[in-house]
Amino acid sequence: MPKIIMSQHDSIRAVEWKDNHLVLLDQRKLPHNEQFIALYSADDTAEAIRNMVVRGAPAIGIAAAYAVVMAARKSYKQYPQDWRQRLLAEIEMLKNSRPTAVNLMWALNRMCEAADDIQGDPEYPLLELAKKIHQDDIDANYRMGELGSALIAPSHGVLTHCNTGSLATGGYGTALGVIRSAYSKGIIEHVYADETRPWWQGSRLTAWDLVKDKIPAHLLCDSAAAHLMKLGKVSWVIVGSDRIAANGDVANKIGTYSLAVNARYHGVKFMVVAPTSTIDLATLCGNDIPIEERPQDEVLNVSNQRIAAYHTQAWNPAFDVTPASLVDALVTEKGVIENPTAEKIAALMAS
Ligand code: MRU
Repeated sequence: MPKIIMSQHDSIRAVEWKDNHLVLLDQRKLPHNEQFIALYSADDTAEAIRNMVVRGAPAIGIAAAYAVVMAARKSYKQYPQDWRQRLLAEIEMLKNSRPTAVNLMWALNRMCEAADDIQGDPEYPLLELAKKIHQDDIDANYRMGELGSALIAPSHGVLTHCNTGSLATGGYGTALGVIRSAYSKGIIEHVYADETRPWWQGSRLTAWDLVKDKIPAHLLCDSAAAHLMKLGKVSWVIVGSDRIAANGDVANKIGTYSLAVNARYHGVKFMVVAPTSTIDLATLCGNDIPIEERPQDEVLNVSNQRIAAYHTQAWNPAFDVTPASLVDALVTEKGVIENPTAEKIAALMAS
């Protein structure tokens, strides 16, 4: 298992490998039920990714890497001569489980390349790689926590969107990792978290994460963010990302783009925190990032209760793209880029 370094403000792990299978904290059930589910196949893991049992770009990639281990075990047992071909089909199926978070394709490509070089039983070497992907993600988050918190001048508060904490990653979190570090060092006193309609990642997950780790926070309606900025209550907006294009455009949870526009207008700084596994040099700009559209019911209903008038239709894009020009700082485990451009990103990735 990945080595575990936990502090007072870092107590949650939502993705774990136990003995021979994957265990996920079911994020659909939070905050009222802390229920773990055990998965034994790539099919079940793909369904868990689609249904948001596990969500958040890095967490999805890690879960998929462990799914490849289970798929390889099954393929090798059933077809010892032809296991690689069978495995490739399962990897393709996993890649199609969600389209926007590039960490999923990144982790699966790494597992696929490793499988190419294996002679004999693939389970153990692939498990070693999946555990490494998991641990590297946690290490990257600690590093980004240090780098990102160093950018923040002592202030009352910061605003975050969606859920980017332990639940969304291997542990600790990206944007929420920076917030954890800044709070631990006494740099910030308070966190504001958007509800994040329609799936409520803010209310159900970030608020739970912060309460659990004893970080004082207020939840606000997404539409209250501009007013919060106008009142001077926050110095930074800090978010994660699902995919960053080669030119620095950032795909993240729907609503991020309007936060960035509002932040620039109000003189609030805008920070994106993401490991380099989220940077996709093959995607040249934000317009090329596939944006997932999720079922209408997520907008029309709340907790399975119909809210909208019957016969109403809803549009439910799960992500939007913030242009690089609105990003003040991009924090990765390899370093910080201020005012990101294609040249600066290429240099960072080559370093
Ligand atoms: O639809 P979700 O909940 O998977 O979306 C998650 C986000 O948008 C996060 O902000 C992003 O994955 C970065 S999390 C480390």
